[in-house]
Amino acid sequence: MSTIASLTASPPIADRRAEPSTAVAVRAVSKAYPGVEALREVSLDCPAGRLTTLLGPSGCGKTTLLKIIAGLIKADAGTVEVLGRTVCGPGPERAFVFQDFALLPWANVVRNVAFGLELRDVPKSEREAVAAHYIAEVGLKGFETKYPHELSGGMRQRVGLARALAVKADVLLMDEPFSAVDEQTRRKFQEDLLRLVAQERKTFLFVTHSIEEAVYLSDRIVLLSRRPGRIWKVIEPDLPRTLSPDQIRREPVYLDTVEAIWQNLRQYVE
Ligand SMILES: Nc1ncnc2c1ncn2[C@@H]1O[C@H](COP(=O)(O)OP(=O)(O)OP(=O)(O)O)[C@@H](O)[C@H]1O
Ligand SMILES: [Mg+2]
Repeated sequence: MSTIASLTASPPIADRRAEPSTAVAVRAVSKAYPGVEALREVSLDCPAGRLTTLLGPSGCGKTTLLKIIAGLIKADAGTVEVLGRTVCGPGPERAFVFQDFALLPWANVVRNVAFGLELRDVPKSEREAVAAHYIAEVGLKGFETKYPHELSGGMRQRVGLARALAVKADVLLMDEPFSAVDEQTRRKFQEDLLRLVAQERKTFLFVTHSIEEAVYLSDRIVLLSRRPGRIWKVIEPDLPRTLSPDQIRREPVYLDTVEAIWQNLRQYVE
């Protein structure tokens, strides 16, 4: 059993039955851009309420796959089902946290976090209350009236995450959300994300370049090969989540999994 699950209270039996075991099902998805084959027959499952990571060399199609799942671009072949429904375009049950933040530069933190709700015509007082909740959840209390240019890269990522959480999407698609931050900030953010995964019971699909990050955060790691991206291996680290983060990073299962993935990926390093 996943160790993250052990941090959460068991849902009532009726809920458990209603919850699909697979939140995102990608089946034989292929995608080419003019002159570039990005993805070839990719199939993967993301278990509901868990964090799945896509890990692979630069240019192997991770962002492309996330955008296909988000419904922002179309696959050439194959299908994606999210919560049992075939994806034909963007939908309210999915939220995307972009690689490059994609915040509104003219809006402060509250407005940025509440923006998805504004688009859905949620009344101002209600959306500001929801925004305040998630701003606190991602550790940005006190920065509500700041604008994106007044924030660090890590803080902007947190705004993006809070915005995705605020629209109450069930599936969060996160493209390298910690890439632009220093190691200390990254570790703090990782802790916060694990807490959110446990608390919010949402399905996270997360892209990273960091093997350590993937192993530390994930219930399931999907390794992609070099372009055209294909599924290379699926790994499910079973980390003792009751231990402290520092202890986990010294555990043999953590160290062995990091090493095994590195041995798989090193062939792609020129
Ligand atoms: N809009 C586009 N038009 C043409 N080619 C594209 C487009 N988007 C991506 N590509 C190409 O498709 C391939 C996969 O790109 P993608 O951004 O999905 O890779 P990635 O795995 O996310 O890379 P990185 O790890 O560097 O973010 C790359 O060769 C890229 O140049
Ligand atoms: Mg990318």
